[in-house]
Amino acid sequence: MATLKEKRTCGQRCEDFGHFVWNSDEGKFMGRTPIRWLYISLYYVAFYVVMTALFSLAIYVLMYTLDPYKPDYQDRLKSPGVMVWPDTYNDEELEITYNMSDKNNWMTKSKILQDFLEPYNDTIQAQCNHYNCTSGKYFIQHAFDAPKHTKWSCPFYQSMLGNCSGIDDPTFGYNTAQPCVIIKMNRIINFLPNNGTGSAPYVNCTALEGQDNVRGYTYYPTNGTLDLSYFPYYGKLAQPTYMNPLVAVKLDLVNQRHAVIQCRVMANNIAHQNYYDPYEGKVIFHLTALS
Ligand SMILES: *[C@@H]1O[C@H](CO)[C@@H](O)[C@H](O)[C@H]1NC(C)=O
Ligand SMILES: *[C@@H]1O[C@H](CO)[C@@H](O)[C@H](O)[C@H]1NC(C)=O
Ligand SMILES: *[C@@H]1O[C@H](CO)[C@@H](O)[C@H](O)[C@H]1NC(C)=O
Ligand SMILES: *[C@@H]1O[C@H](CO)[C@@H](O)[C@H](O)[C@H]1NC(C)=O
Ligand SMILES: *[C@@H]1O[C@H](CO)[C@@H](O)[C@H](O)[C@H]1NC(C)=O
Ligand SMILES: *[C@@H]1O[C@H](CO)[C@@H](O)[C@H](O)[C@H]1NC(C)=O
Ligand SMILES: *[C@@H]1O[C@H](CO)[C@@H](O)[C@H](O)[C@H]1NC(C)=O
Repeated sequence: MATLKEKRTCGQRCEDFGHFVWNSDEGKFMGRTPIRWLYISLYYVAFYVVMTALFSLAIYVLMYTLDPYKPDYQDRLKSPGVMVWPDTYNDEELEITYNMSDKNNWMTKSKILQDFLEPYNDTIQAQCNHYNCTSGKYFIQHAFDAPKHTKWSCPFYQSMLGNCSGIDDPTFGYNTAQPCVIIKMNRIINFLPNNGTGSAPYVNCTALEGQDNVRGYTYYPTNGTLDLSYFPYYGKLAQPTYMNPLVAVKLDLVNQRHAVIQCRVMANNIAHQNYYDPYEGKVIFHLTALS
């Protein structure tokens, strides 16, 4: 036979609950005496105070050791990447193809270069970076002498790109078979090209395919040099007006007017054979002039 459990009414249950909340016989509140509740509360207060203190201490130590002028995770990047403008990507390969007899077509290429060079405008550079830099020397700055607790940045003027500056020839040569491309090396904080030996890195372009179709390379500035005064770069906070130095190359296409060009930045500490990063230290692009 099943034991018949005594059915309790709702009123009785409420009474039980009330008894649990405040048991006047034993002087217990929610099953514990007030003094025990006090101990439990004190324990938790102490517990949270200690936890908060530990947490704050950890945050404080972290903040204290962080240098706002340096990013924290860049230990992997040792060698800078290289890019080319006008930048037209076609599948994995970089392809600069233009039709020199189609004005609308080549204008798009010139326009890309004009837009890219806008921040290098001589007037703007003279205003933002009016520091007299000594060319041929690393520009090492330990102090924050520039306004607003920053460091100076050397100006890079558009006009330094000579015939590829777009000033005398706003087409950048894209209406002919002598187009200009612009090579830019990415920034790496505290990177000293040629690790401190004092010789400047330079850009060297060669044709990997179609050597016979390239009659010549003209570099601006002279010799394709990236002047040492643009190095080292101290980071965005320290040098908010920093501009990457550039090298423009005017190629002279002949015959089929097609070539695969490789432009390398030459320095003893710039690698260029990284299988996993084809843009490290160099850039390869297909250049074709149609007519
Ligand atoms: C280049 O442009 C010219 C003029 O618009 C056109 O006649 C010619 O077919 C174009 N060439 C190619 C290869 O598309
Ligand atoms: C540079 O900027 C000035 C003033 O905005 C402008 O007059 C000049 O045409 C610009 N130069 C070039 C080459 O775009
Ligand atoms: C930089 O040098 C030029 C010529 O030597 C001088 O006219 C100019 O005032 C100098 N600018 C600064 C900011 O020192
Ligand atoms: C720039 O182009 C002009 C005209 O084509 C030429 O005479 C001059 O030598 C070129 N300048 C340089 C530095 O190559
Ligand atoms: C540029 O690279 C080519 C091919 O690697 C080499 O023959 C030439 O000597 C280099 N020029 C300079 C100035 O380094
Ligand atoms: C360019 O390189 C040549 C040969 O190495 C050198 O004689 C010349 O002084 C260099 N010019 C500049 C402006 O660096
Ligand atoms: C410069 O860097 C290269 C490549 O990272 C290295 O082989 C060479 O020993 C370094 N030279 C100096 C003086 O640090």
